[in-house]
Amino acid sequence: MRAPDIIMKKRDGRVLSAEEIRYMIQGMLLGDVPDYQISAFCMAVFFQGMTPEETTALTLAMADSGRRVDLSAIRGVKVDKHSTGGVGDTTTLVLAPMVAAAGVPVAKMSGRGLGHTGGTLDKLESIPGFRVSLSEREFVEQVNRIGLAVVGQTEDVAPADKRLYALRDVTATVESIPLIASSIISKKLATGADAIVLDVKVGSGAFMHELDSARELARAMVAIGRMAGRRMSALITDMNQPLGQAVGNSLEVIEAIHILSGRGEGRLLELCFELGARMVVLGEACDDVNRARATLRRLVESGSALAKLKEMVEAQGGDVSRIDDPDRIEIAPLSARIRAPKDGYVCRADALTLGRAAAAMGAGRQRKTDSVDLGCGLRVLVSVGDRVEAGQPVAELFAGTQSRLDEGMIQATQAFAYSDAPCQAPPLIYEAIEA
Ligand code: URA
Ligand code: CA
Repeated sequence: MRAPDIIMKKRDGRVLSAEEIRYMIQGMLLGDVPDYQISAFCMAVFFQGMTPEETTALTLAMADSGRRVDLSAIRGVKVDKHSTGGVGDTTTLVLAPMVAAAGVPVAKMSGRGLGHTGGTLDKLESIPGFRVSLSEREFVEQVNRIGLAVVGQTEDVAPADKRLYALRDVTATVESIPLIASSIISKKLATGADAIVLDVKVGSGAFMHELDSARELARAMVAIGRMAGRRMSALITDMNQPLGQAVGNSLEVIEAIHILSGRGEGRLLELCFELGARMVVLGEACDDVNRARATLRRLVESGSALAKLKEMVEAQGGDVSRIDDPDRIEIAPLSARIRAPKDGYVCRADALTLGRAAAAMGAGRQRKTDSVDLGCGLRVLVSVGDRVEAGQPVAELFAGTQSRLDEGMIQATQAFAYSDAPCQAPPLIYEAIEA
């Protein structure tokens, strides 16, 4: 096999065999196929696309490129959740304890935030002492003991995806459905999930801006997962406005605790019930989404979901007193409020602009190596469609320095728009692709 022939075949729109795809991926890792050929290959895929069979072969080649995490010692069906990333998207922190409390083991590997989107690991580190890295043995033992662990993904998972993504990032080939779908699902397969629930975001703050492309991505991921023998469900959900109120690490942890304490409601909780119900069904703890949703609601109301979060924090060395008293979780010292300039209706609370404003205050990183200020960020106090009066606060910002606060105020103010006439709230869920 020769790389130029494989590139030409894809360039001309023909279908590659699994062997040819594996040759490219293994050649990349072994150094036999240089970066310029891999880059040309990605561009050919970008223009010609891939069949579901080709995309599955690419996914499996990447999943097998490093160590596969072995979760076979964990009893029960291991269900994972993946969100394509958003703003104020605290779902893992709310969802994982809820689903674990329902009896489905949650062995979750999460990432860090990048750009305007947050990451679960950063959020968990705002609980003093919390350890996000456990050995594989500790991880498996903890899930068997308490049903829940959330850790960082180790470096040796799907190394081919890291190499490929780095090349795509500098060759204008990120926005390709087969390349995105294989990138995401390869990591989920390598980290041992038996079943996967996908939250594919669409809107200004998401990777996908149009419903059509989000649907295409969701369907591609569901198809690959099924071909690889996993049970799959997907929801396509709105990311035009932040999901929860909080945007920023400590602020999001505080919001998650409030919600699990039964003191929060709204889109974030609703979406957690919808995603969680599907995890519970795929995890075989219930055979009906409606009953699973009712079970999760009861577990939040009874305090069982919050108790599960505390068990996890304790097991991973975090300060449990912060869960009992989330007001002791440190937030940045300076704050300011954005107020509605006139009476009317909120017709925009733009997720991308608010995510960028929080990142500009220090909540996010531009490069992977940047550090984050865990305590800063913002709380959005209104939703699209809400009626407001002149002077009413619509957001509250927190920063470590006056200049960062000023910058955040300038940016975040532009996220909001108001109208005299009532305006419609966007739906929370656009579509579901069920098991
Ligand atoms: N997220 C990933 O993990 N991979 C992509 O290619 C895009 C988003
Ligand atoms: Ca909320």
